[in-house]
Amino acid sequence: MSSLQTSFITAAVCVLAAVIVHYVLRPGMIKNIPSRPMLPILGHAHELIRHMYYHETVSDYFVDSFVKPLGPLSQFMKSAYEPVLIVADKRLNDQILNSKDWDRGALMQGIFGGVTPKGMLAIKTDSMLRLHRRALAPSMSPAFISISADVFAIHMARLMSLWKVKLQLASECKFGAGEQIADVFWDAEGDLHMLTTDAISQIVFGESFDQLPREIQLFSESPSGTFLKLEDLNRKPGSKGQSEIAGYMDVIFHSLSSGIAPGLKHAIQRLKPSYQRAFGGFRRWLTGRVDESRKKIKNGGEIAEITCVIDVILAKEAKAGVGSVLPEDELWDELGTFMVAGEETTSTTMCWILKFLSENPHVQSRLHEEMTRSLPSSDERNPNYDDIVGNGVCDYLEAVVYESLRHGETVRAVGRQSIRETTVTGPDGQEHLIPAGVNAMCLLNTSCAVYSDDPKLGWRSDKNDIHRFNPDRWLRPDGTFDKDAGPMLSFAAGPRACFGLKMALVFLRLFTAQLVMAFALAPLSSQHSTEDSRAVLTRRPTKNWVGVRTWSNELKNGGFDEGCDVKRTV
Ligand code: HEM
Repeated sequence: MSSLQTSFITAAVCVLAAVIVHYVLRPGMIKNIPSRPMLPILGHAHELIRHMYYHETVSDYFVDSFVKPLGPLSQFMKSAYEPVLIVADKRLNDQILNSKDWDRGALMQGIFGGVTPKGMLAIKTDSMLRLHRRALAPSMSPAFISISADVFAIHMARLMSLWKVKLQLASECKFGAGEQIADVFWDAEGDLHMLTTDAISQIVFGESFDQLPREIQLFSESPSGTFLKLEDLNRKPGSKGQSEIAGYMDVIFHSLSSGIAPGLKHAIQRLKPSYQRAFGGFRRWLTGRVDESRKKIKNGGEIAEITCVIDVILAKEAKAGVGSVLPEDELWDELGTFMVAGEETTSTTMCWILKFLSENPHVQSRLHEEMTRSLPSSDERNPNYDDIVGNGVCDYLEAVVYESLRHGETVRAVGRQSIRETTVTGPDGQEHLIPAGVNAMCLLNTSCAVYSDDPKLGWRSDKNDIHRFNPDRWLRPDGTFDKDAGPMLSFAAGPRACFGLKMALVFLRLFTAQLVMAFALAPLSSQHSTEDSRAVLTRRPTKNWVGVRTWSNELKNGGFDEGCDVKRTV
């Protein structure tokens, strides 16, 4: 036997021994927590792989195969030796998410570790996290969120201008032989993506990608009256409207995935030249932005104008006089994390808002009425932070945003791992001993499906009610908003809950308010809307079409009709 063969066999035996030791040391199935029949060695892994082959969302498998038949606490066996707790109960989620015995598990590290290894989404709850949170805290102060609100409102107004241009263009066009358009529809997903990337890049990096203005120009330049297909109103990914940096970010975002072995999948993506080009280009641009901000703060001293998150962090650095608040690579990763964590979640929730408003004309009418009464008209100025936060005039707006988050379930689950031996209390009050190293999947809003008369734990015992979009559930009898009306876990809970929660809520309120003031949304036919959803990082509707109408036309015609779509006149 050659020495090469000997080395190969020795290596194979070592790997096999390591795998066996790894599995023998695994905790195995936990006693008294229900599970499903499983295969030796594979556990339930084959079922999950099969599900992922046929479906676009992973969480459905856990809900349908574990939560529904087995109740709010069960265990999925990743292999026959490795349990993952499936938690779908508000009380248990609170217990795990708020406990020091549990931390971020390997899942988030796997998803985000390849792009932003030293950003909040990928790191554990340790001294590095505390340092980062302290450095970034001023970015979530009311003063900075107020600046961010002004920026967001400008970009939202641009989106409304783009939709006006599309509407105008469509009204002048013939859509094929004999087709006259009663309502014009287009896929809004690309538009919302442009809105959030333009706005959040300006808020985080101080420079907008300015895709919306380019898109407006592109559509405005289209010769009127020419033949147009409905699809021409959609934005194509990578269309001319996209800036170079936004293109790089798209490549980086698309390399992220959840599901099985996300870390391995990302490692493969990283080998691609297109990824390396995008990552390098983005880093160079980011270094330039940081240098520019540092120069501005240095020259401006105390009175330097703070316009973005980079300024916020570097102003703190300049004041502390201790060199760097965050080492440069950690600063880059946190800036990238803000973009990754903020963009996809916010644009997905906006997709849900569009869908729910289109399906509920009475909610639109009521919101339109309340918003036009309490906010300045768009000709006067954009709404700002003071208009929409904490003054009690926008209770219904708040209720619509909360209900869209609850019903849409943008983030359906978060993962945690026990860092020491601990216990969890099952729904029957029984304590279960959980060894160190066990993963838990906390299903966030599905946990609201626990029907309890205690509003903190569940919604009314009427089981159908929670599957309805009903903003009124968040209102007290006197019409004021009650954030404690029922469970809300869209931003998770505990020390690792969403860092950007307050900012996200402001963006969502502005989006909804500016939208309903500008347009009425037409009901959608099954061609443009479905109940299906898909999930890469967040859960979003499969179809995200929108049909806009002006309010003047809407009111002139006596309000919403239920029919819509293309009417054939010949
Ligand atoms: C509708 C919008 C949003 C939703 C539904 C959402 C949801 C969440 C959830 C559920 C988590 C917790 C993950 C976990 O517990 O493992 C999270 C974390 C985080 N979010 Fe958000 N988010 C939103 C918008 C934003 C925005 C706008 C920003 C910042 C600009 C942001 C920044 C972050 C950060 C930095 C973390 C990590 C916190 C940590 O690890 O300690 N999010 N988000």
